[in-house]
Amino acid sequence: MVLRRGLRWIYNKIVTNTQRCIISILTAGPVPRHVAFVMDGNRRYARIHGKEVQQGHMEGFVALRRVLDICLRMNVHCVSAYAFAIDNFNRPKEEVDALMNLAQSKLLELCNEGDLLDEYGVRLNIVGRIELFPKALQEAIRKAENMTRQNNKAILNLHMAYASTDEMTTAIEDCVKFGLTHNIDPDTYFTQEEIDKHLMTTAKGSPPLDVLIRTSGVKRLSNYLVWQCCQNTQIQFSSIYWPDFGFWDFIPIILDYQRKIWSRRISA
Ligand code: IPE
Ligand code: MG
Repeated sequence: MVLRRGLRWIYNKIVTNTQRCIISILTAGPVPRHVAFVMDGNRRYARIHGKEVQQGHMEGFVALRRVLDICLRMNVHCVSAYAFAIDNFNRPKEEVDALMNLAQSKLLELCNEGDLLDEYGVRLNIVGRIELFPKALQEAIRKAENMTRQNNKAILNLHMAYASTDEMTTAIEDCVKFGLTHNIDPDTYFTQEEIDKHLMTTAKGSPPLDVLIRTSGVKRLSNYLVWQCCQNTQIQFSSIYWPDFGFWDFIPIILDYQRKIWSRRISA
């Protein structure tokens, strides 16, 4: 028992130091400023492991922490994650309720003093139609965002009750309203740049999206950051279910990003 514990300790030390070493080598090269994740595959993960759906989502949250930690250690400035699509409200009530409860408890935990966001100075943004959530979750969101308001080293966007089409429609509506109330000529005002500025994700300070990663082998955008993906974004698909996604799945994606940046620089 003692021997096994000792061996595990040595193994963990080797893994941690190897990871640290790889991160310091990689961060000597170009690192994406903004990485987004479509965290897909929680229920299939739960099914193949004979677990409850809720457990799959719970382990999905653990994976989010893990991946966020890796990104922050790599100096990625902004991390976005698709936590809840507007369409997800159509899932069975029991599952939606469990997701709401999970968000309510975990959001506050993430923002606690001494926890990940505090440690790295990360500002939390919840991006989406927050008003669609139950009052208690809305309250937790407000509280969690306020707890990290002063942080300015990095950004975590959790897209919740979000859909790209909704984000774009709202931005266009806002643009039109602004133009009308200020009596501005639409030809000069109604531009791609103006719409971009009015997008919820941009308005919360996110830089252009460099890399979008979707897990679980599904090759669709599913209404996530569709506008942003047109900004020279590298889209990557991983066959790993989200709760299993980790360091060794992320590194080849970063290497591929660096390879493309370097080849672009050489051919420029
Ligand atoms: C993603 O995994 C969960 C959310 C972000 C809500 P799913 O719940 O879509 O799991 P699969 O894709 O059905 O396995
Ligand atoms: Mg899915």
